[in-house]
Amino acid sequence: MKKLVVFTGAGVSAESGIATFRASDGLWENHRIEDVASPEGWAKDPSLVLDFYNMRRAQARKAMPNLAHETICELEQWFDVVVVTQNIDNLHERAGSRRIIHLHGSIFHARGTGKNEELVELHSEDIQIGDLASDGSQLRPHIVWFGESVPMMDFAIEEVLSADALLVVGTSLQVYPAASLLTYLPSGKPIFLVDPSPSIPSVGKNLEVIRTKAVEGLPLVKDMLLRHFNITTS
Ligand code: APR
Repeated sequence: MKKLVVFTGAGVSAESGIATFRASDGLWENHRIEDVASPEGWAKDPSLVLDFYNMRRAQARKAMPNLAHETICELEQWFDVVVVTQNIDNLHERAGSRRIIHLHGSIFHARGTGKNEELVELHSEDIQIGDLASDGSQLRPHIVWFGESVPMMDFAIEEVLSADALLVVGTSLQVYPAASLLTYLPSGKPIFLVDPSPSIPSVGKNLEVIRTKAVEGLPLVKDMLLRHFNITTS
């Protein structure tokens, strides 16, 4: 089977009702991104940060995977698929995708603020001030904030280095190191990009841009991939 890495951003979940980040003047659900998604924001007002992510978690729990998430899962019938997502929701998991790397963490996990990096799975519970990890430190969302390292990046790079094609869906490619993933695709391998207002990456590689929303574009790109690799489906 050919190996396909699917790199997703907020746009893939937009039609499930989860707001993208850069849609309205750098505000994210009415907050400055720095206030809610940085170590400085956390140091200044941890309650605000916890409330913010508690709301995001409640919103993500109510959202349903859309046809784009489902089509990405369906691609596993013909490709060895690895999803690398910048999203903190679990809609790829709920659509059935089996191999998923969360580059920027997961809203459904918490971890301590001490040295212990053990993850705590969150089901219906929120995180409140006073909720502690096993080492006694305050729990925080398991999210990569601006200025923090991206521990899953090396794993994602490994996957792209051995991919036969890269499918990029719904990301403004503004945030690094995540956006640099495209540069690791071996030369000559195709990149397909689905986004209604795409930021065109300057990759000197075969780039096919599908200028549509994810739900409309994924079935199209599925057919393009099958044609590209001469795969027949029946
Ligand atoms: N279908 C596909 N793409 C869409 C849709 C849609 N229905 N609606 C919007 N988009 C596109 C936008 O055109 C834009 O290119 O999705 C992209 C969303 O960009 P951002 O909001 O910047 O989200 P993303 O690229 O995922 O952000 C990266 O930034 O704030 C941090 O850590 C956070 O993971 C996040 C990272």
